[in-house]
Amino acid sequence: MKKIVFDNYKVMSRAAADIVAQAVRAKSDIVLGLPTGSTPVGMYDELAKDYAEGKVDFSKAVSFNLDEYAGLDGAHPQSYRYFMEQHLFGRVNIARGNTHVPDGVAKDLDKAAKEFDAKIFQKGGIDLFVLGIGQNGHIGFNEPAASMPAYTHVVELAEDTIAANSRLFDDISEVPKRAVTQGLATIMQAKKIILLSSGPAKREAIAKIDSGIITLDCPATVLHMHRDITLLLC
Ligand code: GLP
Repeated sequence: MKKIVFDNYKVMSRAAADIVAQAVRAKSDIVLGLPTGSTPVGMYDELAKDYAEGKVDFSKAVSFNLDEYAGLDGAHPQSYRYFMEQHLFGRVNIARGNTHVPDGVAKDLDKAAKEFDAKIFQKGGIDLFVLGIGQNGHIGFNEPAASMPAYTHVVELAEDTIAANSRLFDDISEVPKRAVTQGLATIMQAKKIILLSSGPAKREAIAKIDSGIITLDCPATVLHMHRDITLLLC
């Protein structure tokens, strides 16, 4: 596991965008794994800028997002599909048909989750996964637990995740209690991973990764088992 500590959020975001843009230039039909949350917003801004300046072309790129709230459709302003439209998809030339966000309103969420993994497999797997991290060490919505499904699945959100994410909703009661998330195995099968973390709220989770001990009490610690992962921190 490599670790780079940056002086500030702007520099970290630029470095993350450079890694993504470079990867897209190297393989135009790249398969990207993408996160939501406040942390990657700066990276998406930089990628939109790169696109506007003609430095990167997403026309053949394919993406698979990490997660989505159950019960929110893509038109809902707090849905992750909506987030992706605002922060990346709507600002670059990625083909909408090539973008995949788990369907939070599928009739059968379990079936849709299986189909999501099958699609990733069909596309040849994820080349580069960009991850964020939750305050409790969650990755996607893989919450601390004694055990968890390996692949994309429906999950009950932890109380602290609901509290942390309520800042984006009018009221905490509006935060969905369930979500669909890629599983840790889905994520770990990516060829390369970068994880972005910014600010003091994540320090405890980062310290657990730093300890070198793998525990599902902090799901992000399993990333130690990946052979090409870099933490970008500030
Ligand atoms: C949510 C998402 C995660 C994300 C985390 C951290 O819970 N499901 O994928 O990594 O928030 O978000 P932020 O970057 O806003 O702290």
